Amino acid sequence: MSEIKCVGILTSGGDAPGMNAAIRAVTRSAIYSGLKVMGIYRGYRGLITDEIVEFKTQNVSNIIQQGGTILKTARCKEFETKEGRQLAYDNLKRHNIDALVVIGGDGSLTGARIFANEFDLPIVGLPGTIDNDLYGTDRTIGYDTALNTIMDCVDKIRDTATSHERLFFIEVMGRDAGFLALNGAIASGAEAAIIPEISTKVDQLAELIQNGFRKSKNSSIVLVAESPITGGAMGLAERVKNEYPSYDVRVSILGHLQRGGSPTAADRILASRLGAAAIDAINDDQRNVMIGIRNDEIVYVPFVKAIKNDKRINPELIETLRRLSI
Ligand code: F6P
Repeated sequence: MSEIKCVGILTSGGDAPGMNAAIRAVTRSAIYSGLKVMGIYRGYRGLITDEIVEFKTQNVSNIIQQGGTILKTARCKEFETKEGRQLAYDNLKRHNIDALVVIGGDGSLTGARIFANEFDLPIVGLPGTIDNDLYGTDRTIGYDTALNTIMDCVDKIRDTATSHERLFFIEVMGRDAGFLALNGAIASGAEAAIIPEISTKVDQLAELIQNGFRKSKNSSIVLVAESPITGGAMGLAERVKNEYPSYDVRVSILGHLQRGGSPTAADRILASRLGAAAIDAINDDQRNVMIGIRNDEIVYVPFVKAIKNDKRINPELIETLRRLSI
């Protein structure tokens, strides 16, 4: 039997649709298995400043459909220092919290790993990020909703792109990963995606234009991952203006709207399953693992693997986009 009686939960880093569904699942599964739950506001910052309150099942009522995170979130510099983490640990002890569930992306799980090792604390992570860039899980919470948002936006931009016969570069988020750009391009029938995973190897813009991607069309949509490695949508548009002046080019940067909105069914179900599994993991004395999903099965991924390993883009997706954009 596990010694753990009280679990703290926090969301950290960029918010992602489905985080609320995950908070609800963790809270209710914990209470269901007899654990006390403490909600920690504003991520690691709230741990340091002691913004911690008990969560009952009612605290998470009517939130599964809401975007954002009711626990708020932050990117906390102080937690990167030993002194900051000591304050955080002291507050955990004061509230008798003996295990932690951290919902967040790469940076948040990196913080969790350091904290867990330093204080020998059981921490379980949930992959909460629209970027889908955590290794060991097929999908992260928020990714599907962001993808659907991108698809809706591109559908709208296509109307004006077609009417004016323009080339549009649409920049999407993803930090240094191209999952949103590539799958967003396939889902919206875009002509191409420019992603960091390929940009280091070839000049994707030159290749696109040389292959005559405009052969059968007068308008084109290219999704661009925001990473500096791709040059961003603005950088690419500048290049087109200078190098290929016959194109009438426009840019649209989708920005933070990609992080908002009600989560899709897929994200709600994913968050609910991962949240419930986080409590199973804690009751099973697991620590330093991220709960992921692979081939529809729950998996435990050691933090070190989830953070450090590069999640690869499936080359079949690149080929599919290429074939379908003729
Ligand atoms: O990691 C999620 C994410 O939305 C990235 O796609 C993006 O690069 C970053 O966060 C933006 O962060 P912020 O909201 O702090 O500007």
